[in-house]
Amino acid sequence: MGMGAYNLILKRRTIRRFRDKSVPLVLLKKCVNAARVSPSARNTQELEFIIVHNKGQAAKVNEAVRFGGAVREKGRVQGEEPKAFIIIIADRARASEEYTGPNVGIAAEAITLAALEAGVGSCIMGAIEREKIKGILGIPNNYALPLAIALGYPKEKPRAGETKGGKLDYWVDEKGVLHVPKRSLGEVMHIDRFGGK
Ligand SMILES: Cc1cc2nc3c(=O)[nH]c(=O)nc-3n(C[C@H](O)[C@H](O)[C@H](O)COP(=O)(O)O)c2cc1C
Repeated sequence: MGMGAYNLILKRRTIRRFRDKSVPLVLLKKCVNAARVSPSARNTQELEFIIVHNKGQAAKVNEAVRFGGAVREKGRVQGEEPKAFIIIIADRARASEEYTGPNVGIAAEAITLAALEAGVGSCIMGAIEREKIKGILGIPNNYALPLAIALGYPKEKPRAGETKGGKLDYWVDEKGVLHVPKRSLGEVMHIDRFGGK
């Protein structure tokens, strides 16, 4: 059952602890298909996507990514590792300095939302060892590797909340629940002019 784009977007949280259950290849293909038809500036479509579904390959890629901040040790916990990855690569000959970044972001969000609709959680990852991943997956040198997306069925339920005192670091409470502060709507929204309410 679909839940509507807006609700899906509000519900999405980065997941870094995963259940010990593999993600069906057919779903990973669906995620790539969502990225395939995503918008790209001038319709350049410079992005390609490597599905890492094989257990051994996924374990190797997992050694080349880093989970963030307060949750650095996560993803290294045995049994809680990501079960699959989708690696976004960009053909350098067709990539552009101004637009490939935005295109990658849009594709990444499409992948995360398509996964979430099927109950699969994800973590978009930029803190990655690119050369190492390229070696593991045999990615040619004429491709850049902007982002990896870790995927699996969620073993945690992070909560988003508004920040108090402007601190945006995410943190884990005594029960192990991850809290993700978000700036309030009033803080980020301007109407008709800068500062307009
Ligand atoms: C471009 C990008 C790169 C990211 N890289 C990493 C990463 O390398 N490691 C990680 O644990 N999280 C990474 N994240 C996840 C962010 O930490 C996360 O989106 C943020 O804390 C907000 O939490 P939320 O996604 O639940 O709203 C990345 C997110 C984005 C958009």
